[in-house]
Parts: sequence; structure tokens; C-alpha cells
Amino acid sequence: MSEAHGARRHDPHQGSPAAEPAPKIVADRLHKRFPAAGEPVVALEELSLTVAEGELVSVVGPSGCGKTTFLRLLAGLEEPTSGSLAIRASDDGAQRPQNAVVFQEYGIFPWKTVLQNVAFGLQMRGVARREREEQAQAWVERVGLARFAGAYPHELSGGMKQRVSIARALANDPEVLLMDEPLGALDAQTRTVMQEEILDLWERDQKTVVYITHSIDEAVFLSDRVVVMTAHPGRKKAEHAIDLPRPRRWEQTGGADFAALRLQIWSDLEDEVKRTMAGQA
Ligand SMILES: Nc1ncnc2c1ncn2[C@@H]1O[C@H](COP(=O)(O)OP(=O)(O)OP(=O)(O)O)[C@@H](O)[C@H]1O
Ligand SMILES: [Mg+2]
Repeated sequence: MSEAHGARRHDPHQGSPAAEPAPKIVADRLHKRFPAAGEPVVALEELSLTVAEGELVSVVGPSGCGKTTFLRLLAGLEEPTSGSLAIRASDDGAQRPQNAVVFQEYGIFPWKTVLQNVAFGLQMRGVARREREEQAQAWVERVGLARFAGAYPHELSGGMKQRVSIARALANDPEVLLMDEPLGALDAQTRTVMQEEILDLWERDQKTVVYITHSIDEAVFLSDRVVVMTAHPGRKKAEHAIDLPRPRRWEQTGGADFAALRLQIWSDLEDEVKRTMAGQA
């Protein structure tokens, strides 16, 4: 990562309160109850979270604690039962979608080529063919798939499909990028490479990102802040600021600072995972 990229990043944890940028996302006591045959299911209980412009916040929590529900609320795919949610639009006058979501299972169209998949959101927004193909081509190149622009998803590896999915989301230039375990389906080595690629893209683009993962290491490696959720029904249990220097490289995951953060987060999470496994949540 060049110094220019590093210099462009703001640090949401530094500076006087007056210098803090206005929050990009403010979720206030979000509550989500799903109707069910017997008792309604409370998927989220009063979850509040503020995310600064350009911040990358990860959310970790045991299975079923409401992470995907939270992301779907942020994406506007579900309505909260109560509470409020605001995502502030940029004031640069550009028309861009409020969010783009990267799902675990890629969510790319098998009948479209790599280029067509990446161009899809632009097409939906009515961007003229030539312009959208140029923009999509630039994104395909940025995620290292130039040689595969004309390939179909079945011709790609899992990591390559995930890169298509990420390129498609970023090509839309959303206000916020929402990622739900985007690397969950990948093998460990591909996952490590993809983590570095996500960091590269993010450090260049300064998107506001909410990133859901089961991996504490991934959360620490990528994030400015890690939010730990309780077992079902999900509330915020703790937040950890990740003050590791940027740009980050995988080698740092072997360091003492990294290990200390990993341990702190696990000590918050352990009870919640055990409660879930014991069927108490
Ligand atoms: N559409 C729905 N209708 C009813 N219940 C739902 C619905 N969506 C989610 N739930 C319930 O809400 C709770 C939270 O689910 P959610 O998918 O948000 O968890 P999660 O933290 O993403 O889990 P995982 O880590 O396994 O992906 C679960 O008890 C789930 O069964
Ligand atoms: Mg989920």
C-alpha cells in the first residue's frame, strides 16, 4: 500500500471530539421480532451501533445471535420492529446507492459473464452500456480477474467468484458496504489472500464497511473496531477498538498485540458461544 493511501485514511479513534466526522450509520436500539407459530422469535434486542464515515467495523457473535438480521436491517431488506436506523448520504452530490451487500454464497448470476455480473448494478441504475462496461472492466482488473472478464462463474474458483461478488458491490459505489461472512466458503489459504485483497481495496476506497464474520482473527486483522454480540437474542456485549497500525499485513497476525486483542475478544465471546452450544440461547 502506498503512503498516499495511508495518508488519505482518517482514523476514527483519533482527534478531538469536535473533529470527529458525522457518523455514517446510526442504529439506535434496533429490535427485531419475527412472527412464529408458537412464541415470536426475538432476533435482535435493542442493538445500538454508530459507525463513522470510512470506518470498518466487524461484528462477531455465536450462530443465531442475529448478525444476518442486523445486516438485513442495515440493507433495508427487513424493517425493524422498533428502534431507528439512519445512514447519512454523502454530501458530494453524487447519486449512489445507499448500500451494497456481499453475501456468503457470492450471489452472482451463473448465466452472466464476470464482466456482466460486475456491470449488473450499473445496468440496473440505467448507466449507458459503454460507460458501465468501462467501469466494470476497471473493477474486474482491480480484483485481478482481467483474463477472466468473459468467463462464466462455473469456470472460476471460489476465491475468484468471491472477487466477482466484491467487485460487483464496489462497482456500484455504495454509501456503505455490507458484508455477511463473505469469505466463509473459502479454504484457509484463499481466505488469507482475500483478506489482504479486501484490505487493499478498502484502504484505497475508504468505504464505510460493516463486516460480519465468525473469525476473530479476520475481525481483528481487518477492522477499526470489533463488536461482540451476545447469544440469542442478540445485543451488543462489548466493543474493542483495534489500534494496530495500518496498512496491515498478514505477518502482523503473529504479533503480541494481535494475540492480546484476539484473547480479549475471545474472553467476551466464549460464554456466548458456550450458551449457544448448550442450547440455552
Ligand atoms: N425470517 C425469519 N423468520 C423467523 N425467524 C428468523 C428469520 N430470520 C432469522 N430468524 C431467527 O432469528 C435469529 C437470528 O438469526 P440470524 O440469521 O440473524 O443469525 P446469525 O447470527 O446470522 O447466525 P449465523 O451465524 O448462523 O449466520 C435466529 O433464531 C433465527 O432463527
Ligand atoms: Mg448469518
